Amino acid sequence: MSESTGDRDVWGRVDRYLEAALLPEDPVLSAALARNAEAGLPAIDVSPTQGRFLHLLARIAGARRILEIGTLGGYSTIELARALPADGTLVTCEYSPDHAAVAQANLEHAGLADRVEIRVGAALDTLPTLEGPFDLVFVDADKQNNAAYLDHAVRLGRPGTVIVVDNVVRAGRVLTGGDPPTDGTRRMFAALEKDDRLEATAVQTVGAKGYDGFVLARVR
Ligand code: SAH
Ligand code: DHB
Ligand code: MG
Repeated sequence: MSESTGDRDVWGRVDRYLEAALLPEDPVLSAALARNAEAGLPAIDVSPTQGRFLHLLARIAGARRILEIGTLGGYSTIELARALPADGTLVTCEYSPDHAAVAQANLEHAGLADRVEIRVGAALDTLPTLEGPFDLVFVDADKQNNAAYLDHAVRLGRPGTVIVVDNVVRAGRVLTGGDPPTDGTRRMFAALEKDDRLEATAVQTVGAKGYDGFVLARVR
């Protein structure tokens, strides 16, 4: 199945319709996207409806400690951190010091810097230094390492921890692999197949950011 421009157009228009119907004007999130663009960051943040989905998931889970892998400019970080109670905390791992600096500015502007710690460096170096348990883990960094990130997420979780992995469909390329990110995601699915520590599903998505999907898992 191909992703025709007609499909993509209607997906984008429906996303804007849903945003207008469901998501109130949000000057903090708009300012974050503007600062990201000004700093030259790629516009690969979760979409507004996906961001609100993560926020609601964290609220529904009653998350008090959240781990994110892949910060970019902190758009998803803001949505997740806003779901925390006043004494909750979020740790987010980011390889690029430039991205981390933009995210730090966005989090300060959002009034969330006191709840969020950005750990700069390769997530595979940072994760072994963290102590759990985290209540929710959002995996959204270099997809090559998705299998290892999932393993760390389970290790840093507890029974009931919610895990979301972004970008697991990539317009259908997950079917064949053939590029490093989708090959990494396919290795993650192969590991999931044998992993009895988790119960998991995946949901395909379309919208302003194209055709993709996410894994939703729960630690047993
Ligand atoms: N979660 C963000 C988007 C993240 S984009 C949002 O939705 O708003 C992916 C990010 O992962 C990029 O900023 C990239 O620099 C970072 N990244 C790539 N490789 C990484 C690694 N090895 N460790 C940590 N972060 C990494
Ligand atoms: C890319 C990464 C993402 O996390 C995403 O949501 C979309 C695209 C990318 O690297 O192209
Ligand atoms: Mg993503």
